[in-house]
Amino acid sequence: MLTLPLKSRNMKTPTGIKITSTLVFIFILFFVGYIYSLHIDSPILRNSFSTTSKNTKSLIQRKESPKRLEIPLNCLNGNLTNTCPISYSGTLISSTKTVENSLPSTKTCPDYFRWIHEDLWPWRNTGITKEMVMRANRTANFRLVTVNGKAYLEMYEKAFQTRDTFTLWGILQLLRRYPGKLPDLDLMFDCVDWPVVSSSEYKQPNATAPPPVFRYCADDSTLDIVFPDWSFWGWPEINIKPWDTLLEELKEGNRKKKWIEREPYAYWKGNPEVAETRKDLLKCNVSDKQDWGARLYAQDWGHEIQKGFQQSNLADQCTHRYKIYIEGSAWSVSEKYILACDSLTLLVKPLYYDFFTRSLEPMKHYWPVKVDDKCRSIKFAVDWGNRHKQKVQDIGKASSDFVHKNLTMDFVYDYMFHLLNEYAKLLTYRPTIPPNSVELCSETMACPANGVEKNFMMASMVKYPSDSGPCIMPPPFDPPSFRSVRSKKEQSVRKVEMWENKFWSSQIK
Ligand SMILES: *[C@@H]1O[C@H](CO)[C@@H](O)[C@H](O)[C@H]1NC(C)=O
Ligand SMILES: *[C@@H]1O[C@H](CO)[C@@H](O)[C@H](O)[C@H]1NC(C)=O
Ligand SMILES: *[C@@H]1O[C@H](CO)[C@@H](O)[C@H](O)[C@H]1NC(C)=O
Ligand SMILES: *[C@@H]1O[C@H](CO)[C@@H](O)[C@H](O)[C@H]1NC(C)=O
Ligand SMILES: *[C@@H]1O[C@H](CO)[C@@H](O)[C@H](O)[C@H]1NC(C)=O
Repeated sequence: MLTLPLKSRNMKTPTGIKITSTLVFIFILFFVGYIYSLHIDSPILRNSFSTTSKNTKSLIQRKESPKRLEIPLNCLNGNLTNTCPISYSGTLISSTKTVENSLPSTKTCPDYFRWIHEDLWPWRNTGITKEMVMRANRTANFRLVTVNGKAYLEMYEKAFQTRDTFTLWGILQLLRRYPGKLPDLDLMFDCVDWPVVSSSEYKQPNATAPPPVFRYCADDSTLDIVFPDWSFWGWPEINIKPWDTLLEELKEGNRKKKWIEREPYAYWKGNPEVAETRKDLLKCNVSDKQDWGARLYAQDWGHEIQKGFQQSNLADQCTHRYKIYIEGSAWSVSEKYILACDSLTLLVKPLYYDFFTRSLEPMKHYWPVKVDDKCRSIKFAVDWGNRHKQKVQDIGKASSDFVHKNLTMDFVYDYMFHLLNEYAKLLTYRPTIPPNSVELCSETMACPANGVEKNFMMASMVKYPSDSGPCIMPPPFDPPSFRSVRSKKEQSVRKVEMWENKFWSSQIK
């Protein structure tokens, strides 16, 4: 299940250190696989995700109207098991027609949807040709084609852990949510952390158009198209539940401990081995000699797995007034969990962005922390915050509201919908079923799955088509507003840095 051969493609590591940590991580994963086979029945898993479908149902049941036709998951289709239903798309489309109120939405999408226009900007004049898509196969783990609402998968290379599985699962759920609404697609997805389409390569006047590569993050020097990561549907290897479920638990966690009752320190827990900058952060931990206001913990996954993940429950980690976010080898899926806590997020200056982080604003949603002077930066933030409690709570609440209101699964699906819809509009050809592909549907994925993977799939399965259309796409930035968004952010970060510099230079005197 968790065989992880070291593949050359997964080794886009700039340093030997990362390769070593990859090896360590892979070792841990083998260990994970082994322990899973022993502890799959551990109480924590049983409590939160029973394997019986009855309990799984109650986990995701919502206030859906009983009139709506449920989309079945047909694991026994005639005498064929685990095959896609022949009438699949037919069933889906007829079931939407019976929904009386399949109204167009009147809701405007959150602001981060505007970046969809930016991400597809490189192809606005040329469109996206088949040749460009095929060129993206250089690094892609898979190619996904949809024709008439059915999905076809051409697998090039298995991704790390279950990243590809849960990404594909997410796309299939999108098709169940909006049956018959998405145009035909042809896309290449790369599940590796680091972006690869360097913008400088495609800047020359006569350069070819860049290949459109979908992945989870990018940075200012790359043109990769960002897409929601697998963790929204679950990360079985480290027991991170589907986002819908986790969001509810985080809400509960926030209720348990009010901001003022929380520890007046900055908390971080994670795996320091994946990046130098994280090891650097650990130098800010409290010791006999100094207290930078930080309480930092290294995540020991081997230990956690043995203990049934009792100490890694994310909803139990909203106990400090300040929480540090720091990137790992690239962006980190932990950002949404940290922002959701009502605590002030101390955000160590990031290099990468994912699909929603570009609309976060310093001093509105988080406190910016310098990357090259972390300890003093954290100390200043914590002291300032303990003296300006209301302001700090307001920022913590703003980030938490952003996550709980504008980063719900509904909006994650809408983001995927609009991104893929805009992408499909740019295709200059009609996608056809690739000869080497296999048909993919929720049945072929969920029916043969078992254990935690199966539970997460059942918990995150879309059971009904949406009774309204996706939210309304905001327009692209015009150049002045784009520039003003940027400069506002920069100014705000600079202001904090100035306070900090002034404070620390006064300490020296
Ligand atoms: C399914 O059943 C039909 C008739 O009952 C039979 O002809 C066919 O071979 C079966 N298919 C498989 C894959 O077993
Ligand atoms: C959510 O997005 C909408 C639309 O952009 C915006 O008006 C609203 O302020 C956002 N809410 C939060 C809590 O960020
Ligand atoms: C990528 O596409 C090219 C051109 O279509 C093809 O020759 C090559 O084999 C493909 N590579 C992979 C990994 O499929
Ligand atoms: C770009 O192509 C045009 C004609 O196709 C040519 O005249 C021009 O020199 C080229 N420019 C560069 C920088 O290669
Ligand atoms: C940081 O300090 C605390 C308190 O002394 C300790 O429990 C913890 O293990 C330390 N973290 C690391 C990563 O050493």
